[in-house]
Amino acid sequence: MAFYKRSRAARVALPLRRVLPLVLVVLASVLFVVFMLKNRAVAGPSSFSFANLENPATILADPSFKLKLPKQTLLSVSLDQRNRLPPRNTDLFPTLAKDHTKIVLYVHNRPRYLRAVVRSLAGVEGIGETLLIVSHDGYFPEMDGIVRGIRFCQVKQIFAPYSPHLFPDSFPGVSLGDCHDKDDPAAKKCNGTADQYGNHRSPRIVSLKHHWWWMMNTVWDGMEETRGFDGHILFIEEDHYIYPNAYRNLQLLVGVKPTKCPECYATNLAPSDVNFKGEATDMLIAEKIGNMGYAFNRTVWRKIHAKAKEFCSFDEYNWDITMWATVYPSFGAPVYTLRGPRTSAAHFGKCGLHQGQGKSGACIDNGKASFQLDEIDKILNIKPDWQVHIIKKQSGYQAGFKGWGGWGDWRDRELCLSFAYMYHVV
Ligand SMILES: *[C@@H]1O[C@H](CO)[C@@H](O)[C@H](O)[C@H]1NC(C)=O
Ligand SMILES: *[C@@H]1O[C@H](CO)[C@@H](O)[C@H](O)[C@H]1NC(C)=O
Repeated sequence: MAFYKRSRAARVALPLRRVLPLVLVVLASVLFVVFMLKNRAVAGPSSFSFANLENPATILADPSFKLKLPKQTLLSVSLDQRNRLPPRNTDLFPTLAKDHTKIVLYVHNRPRYLRAVVRSLAGVEGIGETLLIVSHDGYFPEMDGIVRGIRFCQVKQIFAPYSPHLFPDSFPGVSLGDCHDKDDPAAKKCNGTADQYGNHRSPRIVSLKHHWWWMMNTVWDGMEETRGFDGHILFIEEDHYIYPNAYRNLQLLVGVKPTKCPECYATNLAPSDVNFKGEATDMLIAEKIGNMGYAFNRTVWRKIHAKAKEFCSFDEYNWDITMWATVYPSFGAPVYTLRGPRTSAAHFGKCGLHQGQGKSGACIDNGKASFQLDEIDKILNIKPDWQVHIIKKQSGYQAGFKGWGGWGDWRDRELCLSFAYMYHVV
């Protein structure tokens, strides 16, 4: 009896034992696919939550979006290949410091400014610990040459392969049959969607926002060098003079941010009013994110990336105004950045001009850069135990601003969205 029972049980159990692993594998796969689909599907603005972003690997992309990238020119293809080259100077700087903050310098075509910026970076304490990524809007041999000359840290160049500057006679450059200025497409039988003020696209004007967005997407989601990097990335421009203490100050700010200002999304090297050098008192400042020397991590990038549709469809050709007027306000709470009371970066202006230059003190004339630094700007000058002073009143562009236009053409909006999804949609 007992034997019979056991053998019957065994007869039933045996096939089940064989099948069970298969069943489990299938079940696990189904669960995984469901999970992936759930996470990849676009969540509308209302269903979006910060919880989605605790896992920095979560990507919000629209599965129904069809990538549409322009047909590349030979130059564009060759730049794409160069983008995959490893960083230079690994012989001089074989390893990056464990807690480094990467630096991205984005440039167009102002060699005199770039030379001055590179000279300022060479004097930055700690620069040898990090990787400098230079992102070019277009290909300009002189700009390329200046970056190749850098010997003070690991350096990698990337070139926006869809820069309007690389397409002399097709989109994103100007194509034959495109409308210009205030042309009426129906009357003129030309191509283009005018912006809210009736103006048609200008490649020179749209290139800045395209470059910034392409660069952000590439730096965070499309590069071997940043894959899995969970630190901060600092962004600077070709006309930003960087103080010798910028990197050490930045590291300190990044370190104290979680405790001193949990509501801060970023850190900044400079006040959001770029003509202001800072309060120069012993305190940390939390204020509106500025456009000079801002640094944030992948969690924040995911939040920005999730707003790709807002970023790409807002009729405003400046990336920073687009962020202030649409993306940041959509986060639901004021978006603060943490900075020190003295700036660690300054905008270059022309020497001897009084209007519009403020008190930054950095200027360029006839190829010569001049800059006066105080001793205190050469050393770490922020203390971790200072109180945080929050500047609640955020002036300047904000939600409700309808944009300066220049970004009305559906082709630009489509290209912009393609940049957002090109590293995620297969
Ligand atoms: C407008 O663009 C389409 C698609 O690129 C092209 O086929 C057409 O010839 C263009 N129209 C004019 C007037 O050039
Ligand atoms: C990134 O920064 C945000 C905002 O400061 C913070 O909430 C988050 O925990 C940080 N993420 C990581 C992985 O450090």
